Amino acid sequence: MCGIVGYVGYRDCTDVLVSALTKLEYRGYDSAGIAVFENGKIAVAKTQGRLSDLTNKMETEGKPHGHAGIGHTRWATHGEPSDINSHPHSGRRVTIVHNGIIENYKQLKQFLIDNERDEFLSDTDTEVVAQLLDFYYDGNPIRCIRKTLHELRGSFALGIIFSDRPETVYAVRCESPLIVAQGQGEVFIASDVPAVIKYTKDYYLLEQEEIAVLKNGAVQFCSLHGRMLEKELLTADWDEDSAEKGGYPHYMLKEIHEQPTAVKTTITPRIEDGLPNLSECGITVDSLRSFRHIFIVACGTAMHAGMVGKYVMEKLARVSVTVDIASEFRYRDPLLTENDLVIIISQSGETADSKAALNLAKKRGAKTLAVVNVKGSSIAREADMVVYTHAGPEIAVASTKAYMVQLSVMYLIAFEMAFAKGKIDKETCRALTAELVSMPQVIDDTIHHVLDICQYISTRLISAESLLYIGRGLDYALSMEGSLKLKEISYIHSESYAAGELKHGTISLITDGMPVIAIATQNTLLEKTVSNIREVKARGAMTIVICDEKAEIGVDAADYLIRIPKINEMLMPMVATVPMQLLAYYTSVNKGNDVDKPRNLAKSVTVE
Ligand code: M6R
Repeated sequence: MCGIVGYVGYRDCTDVLVSALTKLEYRGYDSAGIAVFENGKIAVAKTQGRLSDLTNKMETEGKPHGHAGIGHTRWATHGEPSDINSHPHSGRRVTIVHNGIIENYKQLKQFLIDNERDEFLSDTDTEVVAQLLDFYYDGNPIRCIRKTLHELRGSFALGIIFSDRPETVYAVRCESPLIVAQGQGEVFIASDVPAVIKYTKDYYLLEQEEIAVLKNGAVQFCSLHGRMLEKELLTADWDEDSAEKGGYPHYMLKEIHEQPTAVKTTITPRIEDGLPNLSECGITVDSLRSFRHIFIVACGTAMHAGMVGKYVMEKLARVSVTVDIASEFRYRDPLLTENDLVIIISQSGETADSKAALNLAKKRGAKTLAVVNVKGSSIAREADMVVYTHAGPEIAVASTKAYMVQLSVMYLIAFEMAFAKGKIDKETCRALTAELVSMPQVIDDTIHHVLDICQYISTRLISAESLLYIGRGLDYALSMEGSLKLKEISYIHSESYAAGELKHGTISLITDGMPVIAIATQNTLLEKTVSNIREVKARGAMTIVICDEKAEIGVDAADYLIRIPKINEMLMPMVATVPMQLLAYYTSVNKGNDVDKPRNLAKSVTVE
């Protein structure tokens, strides 16, 4: 939700913190701040607004100089975005940055007030933590962190500095992610690896309630009880370039173009002798045969990938699949048994509700499988089995390539399960797998083919106040993602609807010129979808139809046609996704919006 960083080394600390925070702005960007040891004292600079507002402020008011410090970019949870609510927050001797949420901060605040600690300036939960640390600080940082953590409920990662421990940064986490990166004579903390990849690829994953002490360019780890810990040093398998825009005006456009490679990298290692083979991820053929019911649980775009997964798994493997929004699943007391498989899909692997759903599934004895993009993330580590999607870092808040690779994994699982259960024979499984293997090229062709038309059609969307995305079957599953993508970055109200359901109420919304984007890639349902398109067109809608190059759809139904390659209709979602992404992208660009950082959103939703 927020991004935190810290540095101890030989470089100018402010420059390092600002550079690292730039890479974390995708996590939140309504205020930014740093705290640096300057001549033995803690100097703080912070402001409401973006990181650029902070750098402007430091240019006019002077920037702190030093070699150790912490930084923050915020997505407000407690208290409006304002200078005073910006991090870092301080007690008398302690200054902190925080990512996450402290659920019991009100009780803790009362406890502090009752103990004559009532020096609160902000509305944040974070300031309460700073004051609590201060309350417990008796000159021993580890003891004070332990006592404080004992009191805190919620999810958090903290970067902490103590005024009487100059040039030293402490870090601790509970639920919220945090890494410690080790360079030559310098050491960093960050919410995510891309923040510091420019300086080093070597990093440690900080585990629950482990403390990192950064000093003299090196790090030591200990438990809450002060026991020293040895940790495995990991190396990121991508470099700075893959986390940069590489000549594209926005990360989102870059990430759309990266989809062919992302799919190829994800599926290639999971195909053997022309057939899917997920055994390396812990999925055995026997287990695939045995599940009574499959639950797919996720949030947002990842949940939409699950919707496609449901259609495909049910159709091919004849197993019943339920798709749940994680925030609902965790509280709806689902009927889980030991014979069920719960698939959690998450790009970040840190989404709070998805993580809670995973824990619930484990508690109830179901088998759990994570489909996750970020290596070593909480969900990946906690699930029984994990299939990593290899999309590389996804920076734009609007998910594109992560969705595409999630789809590719849904197909791999469906094909392998259908074959394992004897619902399709080897040749059919091989043929389907071969079609999946050809997808990177098809996606690449589609991007180039539809780019101009999507750019043009987007100019017809920018003045719309509201629009509908419709489809049937797999196209309906897809329309949910198209609609989400468009609304989250264009700020145009959009709803997705099962095309056949329109006349049960929603068609009354259609007014003259209202855009309706119809996805019509399922040949078996084409006629029915076209009738629904005609129904809205007859009532004045401006219809935009995404269909394959051979579909017979005339001007009586479509004002605009976006033609995409015709392939096996089961795999059409991977192609039809492309124009949906580009329509959303160009509409946002044409409206002058901040495409990569849409308002009110954060990339990683690590709070409930
Ligand atoms: O990291 P996750 O995949 O768990 O994130 C889930 C959603 O928050 C995410 O897909 C969100 O809906 C995207 N902003 C959509 O573009």
